[in-house]
This record gives sequence, structure tokens and C-alpha cells, in this order.
Amino acid sequence: MTENERQQWRRQLRTRRQQLSETEQREASEAVSQRLLTFTEQRPQVQEVAVFLANDSEINLQPYIEALWQRNIKTLVPVLHPFCAGHLLFMRYADDTVMRPNRFSIPEPELACPNVVPLAKIDLLLAPLVGFDGHGNRLGMGGGFYDRTLNSWFAGRYPNLQVAGVAHDCQYVEQLPAAAWDIPLPRVFTPTREWQF
Ligand SMILES: Nc1ncnc2c1ncn2[C@@H]1O[C@H](COP(=O)(O)OP(=O)(O)O)[C@@H](O)[C@H]1O
Ligand SMILES: [Mg+2]
Repeated sequence: MTENERQQWRRQLRTRRQQLSETEQREASEAVSQRLLTFTEQRPQVQEVAVFLANDSEINLQPYIEALWQRNIKTLVPVLHPFCAGHLLFMRYADDTVMRPNRFSIPEPELACPNVVPLAKIDLLLAPLVGFDGHGNRLGMGGGFYDRTLNSWFAGRYPNLQVAGVAHDCQYVEQLPAAAWDIPLPRVFTPTREWQF
């Protein structure tokens, strides 16, 4: 019953963001990138940032990513774990990284162990989302990837890791049905504001 409700929200919220025009997408991308850059520059200890590459009309972090590169701050992107189903690895992502589509058609770097960075070394992790609510509850695409990734962080294992969601404003809803395994977000950046929970 709740799963059904969550599926309905996923459908509705994905449709909302897919209806944004190219101009709206570009403006959203620039505004949220500026906001993220300000946040990052206020925290000089942030040197390794896990970002995501926009898929399914998600907000595009490319301007932020390029600004980080200019400042010699390293960026990482999620990669599907080769044998631990449902888990992610985070790999170095630079302007010369060779990318190829994974089974969801999302580009990812070719797997190479020296380029995998453990959560313990990441300073800021930005999570994509389909929806978020006024309590920081996060609804993803339905794979539970970020719930698994953030589980040990939520348990206090990585006290230096900062976590935030990044989304379009239209991905906010007042109250989402949360599941027992959902990891809530302490912060969400949208083009018009920074939410803290
Ligand atoms: N920490 C976890 N350990 C094991 N399974 C998990 C964990 N977190 C989520 N899952 C599983 O992943 C699936 C999808 O999670 P869900 O929260 O519905 O997706 P999403 O977070 O992408 O919206 C669920 O069936 C859930 O049981
Ligand atoms: Mg979840």
C-alpha cells in the first residue's frame, strides 16, 4: 500500500521535472551550482566532492563540477558496484575521464581500483533524488542505492562527511511516505533555497 503510494509520487515528481523547459533547466543548473559553490568555498576542508551526472531531467551540476575543477577540488561520481548488487562505488571524475553508459544508461567511468575513493575520504556527498519533504525524507528512483550508501554514515561512521540532496524546487512535497530503511537528508539544495532539517 505504502509502496504503491511511493510509486505514485515517483511518477508524479519525475513527470514534474521532465516538464521543465530547456531554459528552466539551464537556469536551475546555474542557480544551484552557484549556491553549491558558495557552500563549498565557505568550507576549505572540502576537497573531495561526490557529485552525480544528471539523468532523467535531474538538475545538472556541470557548472558546479567545472568550478570545482578550476579550484583543484576533486570530484567523484557514483558507479554501480560490479558484484555487490544495489551498492555504489565512488570513482574519480575529471575532464579527461573516459565514460561509458551503465545498465541504466547513466555514464560512468570504467572501473579501475586506484580510482575508487572510499566514503571515509569523501568530504561532501551530493545525492540525487526524485522527491524530498519538509522533514528531509528522500525518495529516490526506487533502487535504494543512496539508502545503502548512507546507512553507515547515518550510524555515525563518517563524522567528517557532509551530505546533501540536490534537486529542482518542484521536487519538494510537504510529506512523503518514508520507509524504515530510508535515510533522511540533513540538507537539500534547490535553485532558490537551501533547506536544513
Ligand atoms: N540499507 C539497506 N539494506 C538493504 N536493502 C535496502 C537498504 N536500503 C534500501 N534497501 C532496499 O532497496 C529497495 C529500494 O529502496 P527505496 O527506499 O524504495 O528506493 P529509493 O530510496 O531509491 O527511493 C527496497 O526494497 C529496500 O528494501
Ligand atoms: Mg529510499
